Amino acid sequence: MESRGMRVRVAAISLVVALLWSGVSGGSISIYWGQRGDEATLADTCASGNFEIVMLAFLITFGNGQTPVLNLAGHCDPPSGGCKSLSTQIESCHSSGVKVFLSLGGSVGNAMITSAEDAQEVANYLWNNYLGGNSGSRPLGPAVLDGIDFDIESTTAHWDDLAKAVSKLSTNSKKVYLSAAPQCPYPDASLGDALQTGLFDYVWIQFYNNPPCQYANEDASNLVNSWNHWTTSVPTAQTRSFYLGLPAAPRAAGSGYIDPHVLIEKVLPKIKPSSKYGGVMLWSKYWDEQTNYSSTIKDSVIMKPSLVELPTLASL
Ligand SMILES: *[C@@H]1O[C@H](CO)[C@@H](O)[C@H](O)[C@H]1NC(C)=O
Repeated sequence: MESRGMRVRVAAISLVVALLWSGVSGGSISIYWGQRGDEATLADTCASGNFEIVMLAFLITFGNGQTPVLNLAGHCDPPSGGCKSLSTQIESCHSSGVKVFLSLGGSVGNAMITSAEDAQEVANYLWNNYLGGNSGSRPLGPAVLDGIDFDIESTTAHWDDLAKAVSKLSTNSKKVYLSAAPQCPYPDASLGDALQTGLFDYVWIQFYNNPPCQYANEDASNLVNSWNHWTTSVPTAQTRSFYLGLPAAPRAAGSGYIDPHVLIEKVLPKIKPSSKYGGVMLWSKYWDEQTNYSSTIKDSVIMKPSLVELPTLASL
């Protein structure tokens, strides 16, 4: 018969193993969703179990007094209120432990901030329409998003002001995460000043469409040098902030696609030892469905607890 002491001991060991996992684990996949009506639903994307964070792409126009424009391609029609039904899907993501961010920018539209005051107005708009506030419109209904992603690829000024204003929206009961998707040439032309604020929780660097700093010709050295430059130059709000941003299929970007097996064998082993490594970002859910990229790399993206830490269990 098992003694009570034994059961307590087994429970304690399980707890320590769980803590070791959470303490040293890291390495998750984030993904952009929204720009293809023929990709999986948001709820199914979250239910796949492959992703920790899903970025809704994109709020394409805002700032300078413009009426903000949300574009989710063929998924739903924001002006008619057709995207409010996404609320239940966002909540189902939350029940699966997946965070959902609103991504600002993208490569079309008119994303701009003209002054610190304008930044504050946009932050107020985001708070009332997508975060913890209230408004009569709320394009995605009542669900409260977890963060704001900056995928700014055109204008350059005042993004630091917006980062500061958004960071102040966190409350004691709910944090508002900040993420950014700079291009790999350092510093990023649009987000350089914003990133130097140190306010971003996640930085997914786009290692694609940028030959000088991406994987090319079976050679990871430009990518690794760029990774090292980024992770030692940009202050962030948490430790494991940096993600390797990659196209999920050859046609998802003009250049920079890395075969998943090459990623696993030749690239991740050079990136994962970095204490700043947080995981891999993929563009995008539609393209991931053409290749099953996330399913292929998932187990290799995760940091496994190292065996050297296990002997500490003996002291129990
Ligand atoms: C991806 O995985 C799904 C489900 O396992 C499978 O049906 C599909 O054929 C796979 N697609 C590719 C391109 O491997």
